[in-house]
Amino acid sequence: MTPLLQVSDLRVSFGRPRREVLHGISFSIAPGQRVGLIGESGSGKSVTALAVLGLLSETAAVTGSIRLAVPDGDGPTGRQLEVTTATEKQLAALRGDAYSMIFQEPMTALDPTMKVGRQVGELLGLHGHRIPGGSRSRVLEMLREVDLPEVGRIADSYPHQLSGGQRQRVLIAMALVNDPVLTICDEPTTALDVTAQAKVLQVLDRHFTQRSAATLFITHDLAVLAGVVDVAMVMLEGHVVEAGPIREVLADPWHPYTKGLVATSRLELARPGERLPTVADHFDRSIPVQGLREVPVSWEHRARVPGRPGGGA
Ligand SMILES: Nc1ncnc2c1ncn2[C@@H]1O[C@H](COP(=O)(O)OP(=O)(O)OP(=O)(O)O)[C@@H](O)[C@H]1O
Ligand SMILES: [Mg+2]
Repeated sequence: MTPLLQVSDLRVSFGRPRREVLHGISFSIAPGQRVGLIGESGSGKSVTALAVLGLLSETAAVTGSIRLAVPDGDGPTGRQLEVTTATEKQLAALRGDAYSMIFQEPMTALDPTMKVGRQVGELLGLHGHRIPGGSRSRVLEMLREVDLPEVGRIADSYPHQLSGGQRQRVLIAMALVNDPVLTICDEPTTALDVTAQAKVLQVLDRHFTQRSAATLFITHDLAVLAGVVDVAMVMLEGHVVEAGPIREVLADPWHPYTKGLVATSRLELARPGERLPTVADHFDRSIPVQGLREVPVSWEHRARVPGRPGGGA
């Protein structure tokens, strides 16, 4: 089956002189597959997400290949769109429809001057879907689906009248309203408290399960990832250093950076004054990072950097 997303040797650089921030990453996502992307701040997770949907700024130089399957209403067509050379019009036809994204910052992704119900409704009209019973009822249904209370009142509210958790759920409603085949979630719960976070993850998990929808789920929190995805990629300094089934990655981390992540995420509460171990305790920053070369297509086996973990061959 054609994968939904096929990324090959993707490199992204910014500025003058050019600074490369993604150093040739490769992976693919099959229909219904849930792929996690984990890594520290600045490792290149959001740049990867934005590149996939052709949303990087003009200042970004992109090489390599990013292919998205082009589905029609009835399913896959076998056609693929090369994102790196696609026109804005071709990309716009896929975004918010077959492919959607939930951004890190709910406030910046919502229009502060428009009631949220209308913002969800406008997306419905955008791609020419016919809505039985009208768009208002579909909007309310969608707000209910993301577990928002008093959906009538919420739909008639402006973003600033909602809590952070409610805003994030509105964004999720917007991302899911056109029933996408793949949703990129870029740290959708980072800004939320633990209760709101659990609720949002539950809503997403339910959606992916019911619709057999795929996701590229980005987080720096291993515990969050473990509950949502089947397979995971570990990113470090613009390289994918390890990839495979999430259970295997958790049970038997291979790269020193992953070892550090797993060890620190299993911590019990430390006693007052006790120094908490950090990822840095497991990982020598002075050793140059090497990335995976091959594409983990089937994801059945672990993919590891050849040679010494984290270092040269
Ligand atoms: N528009 C831009 N111009 C220049 N550099 C950028 C731009 N966007 C991202 N970068 C750089 O690319 C690198 C990767 O950034 P990215 O936003 O992907 O990190 P991240 O893994 O998403 O981190 P976080 O967990 O903090 O969100 C960083 O060094 C960042 O400074
Ligand atoms: Mg980010």
